[in-house]
Amino acid sequence: MKILLTGGSGQLGQEILKQKPRGIEIFNPGRNKLDLSDSKSCIKTVLDLKPDWIINCAAYTQVDDAEKNIQLSRRINSDAPAAFTEAINETNSKLLHISTDFVFDGNQNFPYRENQTRKPLSQYGASKALGEELIKKNIQNIDNATILRTSWVISPRGKNFILTMLKLHSEKEFIKVVSDQIGCPTSTRDLAKVCWKIIKLKKEKKLPFILHWTDAGVASWFDIAVSVGEIAKELGINKKEAIVLPINTCEYPTPAQRPKYSLLNTTNTSDLLNIQPIHWRKNLRSILIEYKNSKKI
Ligand SMILES: NC(=O)c1ccc[n+]([C@@H]2O[C@H](COP(=O)([O-])OP(=O)(O)OC[C@H]3O[C@@H](n4cnc5c(N)ncnc54)[C@H](OP(=O)(O)O)[C@@H]3O)[C@@H](O)[C@H]2O)c1
Repeated sequence: MKILLTGGSGQLGQEILKQKPRGIEIFNPGRNKLDLSDSKSCIKTVLDLKPDWIINCAAYTQVDDAEKNIQLSRRINSDAPAAFTEAINETNSKLLHISTDFVFDGNQNFPYRENQTRKPLSQYGASKALGEELIKKNIQNIDNATILRTSWVISPRGKNFILTMLKLHSEKEFIKVVSDQIGCPTSTRDLAKVCWKIIKLKKEKKLPFILHWTDAGVASWFDIAVSVGEIAKELGINKKEAIVLPINTCEYPTPAQRPKYSLLNTTNTSDLLNIQPIHWRKNLRSILIEYKNSKKI
């Protein structure tokens, strides 16, 4: 089986590569060979390669910067998936496209189902929502595309909230962290496992067009920051932990508005794939252990 992977240098992409099953050939061109802001290049790459699958992990993920770089984020997050869809209509390849909880506005207090109406608050959310819509609009055979939404991606590598908090705990006495945005972290290890399982299962059965996956549980950024401090100290990564103070979103203004509540309902995916999500705090511990081992602390 031949797979075209985009975003192989990102948090999720690296884990997808790490977990590649035997017998699968992955083409991971990187931004210098395949720039997703160039739709023609996206189409040409697929037509030339004729992969069995495209796993589209690449995205413009700087949520705040997207507020000013609207055109660029649209090209990468909306036009590129649309271009991939156009190309797979020719090659009959399958597309696994990664999307986000930020397609919702967060104005509810129970987990979002796959079929709920998208109402993004930010330019990043709008670009990802449009990407989803364009895949749906352009695809000729709906069975060839799967959108996997996830939230608050964390891993021992790359740029993420966990690694930022680790540093702040080691440097500061107090950290102020937003406590009124509720969601759930997602470990790249389990998310990548889900991606590979989708690819395997699609050989045997039809899956819905949209699936959700996150770790189990629910958290605010404040909860995660506290847990990072506790676990990092216990594992000997940091000698000390800072005192974490809860603050409101309005006390930490950012260019992009984020949903107040963006928990995704994952029961459908869990049942279809026969995988139980692990609680985020348990996965956080595994991430911090992997981080510790990688740094030889
Ligand atoms: N991070 C989160 O909290 C989160 C939450 C929900 C959903 N998601 C979704 O999950 C997916 C993976 O996220 P992630 O956290 O793994 O992302 P990430 O670590 O920020 O990595 C983004 C990847 O996209 C690549 N990329 C960006 N612009 C590109 C371009 N113009 N051409 C080619 N490649 C480009 C980057 O390449 P370079 O290394 O060259 O920059 C990098 O490999 C994305 O679809 C994202 O929208 C993420």
